Amino acid sequence: PIVCAIHGTAFGGGLEVALGCHYRIASTRSKVGLPEVNLGILPGAGGTQRLPRLIGVWLAAEMICSGKPIEAVDADAKGILDDLVEISSLESVQTEYDKLLDAAITLALRVKNHSLEGKRVSQLKVEPVSDFFYEQLALQISKNARGMNAPLQALKAVKASAMFPFKEGMQREQQILGRLFVSSQAKALQHIFFAERQTMKIPGIDMKKGVPIKFVGVIGAGMMGSGIAINFIKKGIPVVLIDAEQEFLDRGVKAIEDYFKGRVKKGKTTRFLADRSLGYLRPSLHYEDLSNVDLVIEAVFENLDVKKSVLKHLDEICKPQTILCTNTSTLDIDQIASATNRPDRVIGTHFFSPANVMRLMENVAGSKTSERTIASVMQISKTISKIPVLVGNCFGFIGNRMLFPYNNQANALLQEGAFPHDVDKVLYDFGFPMGLFQMSDLAGNDIGLHIRKAQGIVDPSQRDPNERYVSTTADKLCEMKRFGVKSSKGWYSYAKGSRKGRPDKEVMDLIVENSKAEGFVRRNISAKEIEERCLYALINEGFKCLEEGMAYKPGDIDIIWIYGYGFPPQKGGPMHYADAVGLKKIYDSILQYGKADPKTSAWKPSKLLEQLASSGKKLAKYWTKKLKAQSNL
Ligand SMILES: NC(=O)c1ccc[n+]([C@@H]2O[C@H](COP(=O)([O-])OP(=O)(O)OC[C@H]3O[C@@H](n4cnc5c(N)ncnc54)[C@H](O)[C@@H]3O)[C@@H](O)[C@H]2O)c1
Repeated sequence: PIVCAIHGTAFGGGLEVALGCHYRIASTRSKVGLPEVNLGILPGAGGTQRLPRLIGVWLAAEMICSGKPIEAVDADAKGILDDLVEISSLESVQTEYDKLLDAAITLALRVKNHSLEGKRVSQLKVEPVSDFFYEQLALQISKNARGMNAPLQALKAVKASAMFPFKEGMQREQQILGRLFVSSQAKALQHIFFAERQTMKIPGIDMKKGVPIKFVGVIGAGMMGSGIAINFIKKGIPVVLIDAEQEFLDRGVKAIEDYFKGRVKKGKTTRFLADRSLGYLRPSLHYEDLSNVDLVIEAVFENLDVKKSVLKHLDEICKPQTILCTNTSTLDIDQIASATNRPDRVIGTHFFSPANVMRLMENVAGSKTSERTIASVMQISKTISKIPVLVGNCFGFIGNRMLFPYNNQANALLQEGAFPHDVDKVLYDFGFPMGLFQMSDLAGNDIGLHIRKAQGIVDPSQRDPNERYVSTTADKLCEMKRFGVKSSKGWYSYAKGSRKGRPDKEVMDLIVENSKAEGFVRRNISAKEIEERCLYALINEGFKCLEEGMAYKPGDIDIIWIYGYGFPPQKGGPMHYADAVGLKKIYDSILQYGKADPKTSAWKPSKLLEQLASSGKKLAKYWTKKLKAQSNL
């Protein structure tokens, strides 16, 4: 008999090899899974045919179609394993290996004279299930993995295991895999898989130069500060959490405690581990407690003067090596850094909300930020399980900068004839989890107003007469206290406690009234136009970020938009999607929309886009070549 000993992770091909063996044994710290659907394909070495034979169609389909890995204990309960080797969290990897090997050899010796009857998975029978089961599962998949092909196709392959003998089932698996392999979704998902692993590769930055961060300060115990602190204490990194007021400090600490209580209640952690994490938190009202930290992140109010005075104070108190980070979402990192005598050690760490949940971090390098500071912050971001992307210092950095023209188009469409639900439906159908107006209602419409006020464009006399202003309705909504979900009224109206908005006549009347007042004759706008205008404005801005050197790679932009803004991963992010649509088509459309709307700067095509469109090149290829040439210099 062949016994497979699983040490660590047996994902995809690893588990498929194990399924080809007669016996499987694993350490309790191991994990198994068939995650191929996340790459737009299916487990194509017999996984879809063997797993249902071993554990039944229901459990196999759930594992294969979700792509989610499971712990060894769960795999044992499901019948994937024949034996488990108990390993405590304190034992070393070497001890784990030795114990597992011993147990595997013992098992092999014990079964060496046993018959292999029933031990070749391919020879097992699959218990058939009714079509109703497949229909229900397909419905569930369509909901959980909306817009994704691979999970539904994988279900077909699993179904084949119950309908055909093993050999024929394997042929079906291959046919389906062949089709998936060349699909645009597989290309997009694989692009994301690699782009995520490339964000740490930045031309001119040696990540080994980073210094270890062992002690952290967080200033501001508000929504962001408390979320940021959670990331560190969860990993056993001590945090001093500072606020100016006892009341707000207490509120922040309570939010952190509630978070851990919730995790214990949901069974996601133990009371012991939660208490251990909370033991790393030290709340304080005194900046002096930060004298010894390696890194501080300020998350105080979004106001330049407040942030500058906080950084100035930190510069005086912290040891000279301390890295000073700002969680600003819009302010200029260089201006903030100018308040200190160590601008080389100042950097933006733009967390996304909720900061303990969202994995994306835009780390913003100012003009004086040193290589060592960048490397240290990129590395600590990884340590706290974030996906860090290094971006340049421009208004809105990459994510929010690209959001502005995208959002402006959505608002321009309202002026010209669409309603919020028309725009949102198109974006939802494209694959976003929600449309822009729903998103704005959820985040709070006052945030947008606050930014427009800071830009000085709410007051008509302050606006650039050569730029079209599209946010009159958005401004008026705030005057009417329609802030969104939190006030039960925004672009939509909401039943108490519900997040599901309904179109609201008051808002629709206001939109129509504003169109008239602003001199627009409303017209029917097609779904195609809505999609193109929103997405092409977004893509054009992405090209501008690249040509200005604010983004280092097209894949970085894709990662930001997928992890920060819900861009559908099966479309690969805005820049990958642009290549898939064709740059010439996008460029021509931008010119066309610009002709109809010359006062919108979003329709000024990026030079890089223009150059690639006219030469017929793809962005991905062009950029890879460019980076290669740079690294050879
Ligand atoms: N909320 C978001 O979605 C989001 C997302 C990314 C970034 N940000 C940025 O994060 C920062 C904080 O945002 P928030 O939503 O957590 O704000 P918040 O109002 O919830 O919290 C700010 C906290 O800072 C404290 N504070 C203010 N001045 C202080 C000082 N001088 N010293 C110590 N504490 C002080 C306040 O008492 C308050 O508790 C802002 O710069 C914001 O732009 C917010």
